[in-house]
Amino acid sequence: MATARLDQKRHALVRAVPNSFTDALANFFGSGPSDLGMARLAHKKYCSILEDNGVKVTVIPADDDYPDCIFVEDQAVIIDGHVLLPALMAPSRRGEQQVVADAIIEELSGHKVCKMYHPAVMDGGDLLRFGDLFFVGRSTRTNDAGITELRDLLDHLGYELRTVDIPDNALHLTSLASTPTDTTLLAPLGYLDESAFGELPNGGEIIWIPEEEAYGCNTLGLPNGKVLVADGYPTVAAELESRGLEVVIIDMEQIRAADGSLTCLSLFL
Ligand code: GLY
Repeated sequence: MATARLDQKRHALVRAVPNSFTDALANFFGSGPSDLGMARLAHKKYCSILEDNGVKVTVIPADDDYPDCIFVEDQAVIIDGHVLLPALMAPSRRGEQQVVADAIIEELSGHKVCKMYHPAVMDGGDLLRFGDLFFVGRSTRTNDAGITELRDLLDHLGYELRTVDIPDNALHLTSLASTPTDTTLLAPLGYLDESAFGELPNGGEIIWIPEEEAYGCNTLGLPNGKVLVADGYPTVAAELESRGLEVVIIDMEQIRAADGSLTCLSLFL
């Protein structure tokens, strides 16, 4: 989940890997998962790393009717306890939302939940938080009507929103970028223009990564200074280590095969 500040990452919602995971959508970084066992192992490792680093993890059971259901990030936008349930563009993913929404409502009782309706569409994976500044990807999954609804919520909360156009060869904004800390943004050259994010406030830094490590730009920073990084992206790991962060490597091969990244697997409550 890319809409939580570091200090808000204390409780994560994840969803177990369904038996149908090999049917997950895969049109960008991935060409389809092939090894359910490896996918489950990676998911288990992900949950263990979170727990070992002080994050409570709540696991929603898998549903074999929804091959992509592990990617809970897309199903809800949670900002400082305010919840927006986006309308999903991909028909095969729409039915995943209710169970995720129920789990959020159970955990965050008393908080306001807003629902987006078509023709507005958005995937939570198109949102990225950089402290008090938010970015949204205009992509094949997120349209202008969806962005307008998000802007209404962020205006209400007093946060700025900037739009980033996502190239045709990428799924989401978070497929390409992440904020391993509240003042650092990772993004790949080639996919995004160097002016894509504009000027960053408060001495914020963009670390531009070579195009061939684009997938590795999705990292997951934790409050204790550790950052999860997918295996196989040495420039990403080295850039973070050189800034004093402790990198934790995780094998994401089978998750990547379904166009999923580290942040796609969790929602921070
Ligand atoms: N496989 C993730 C998605 O396309 O939504």
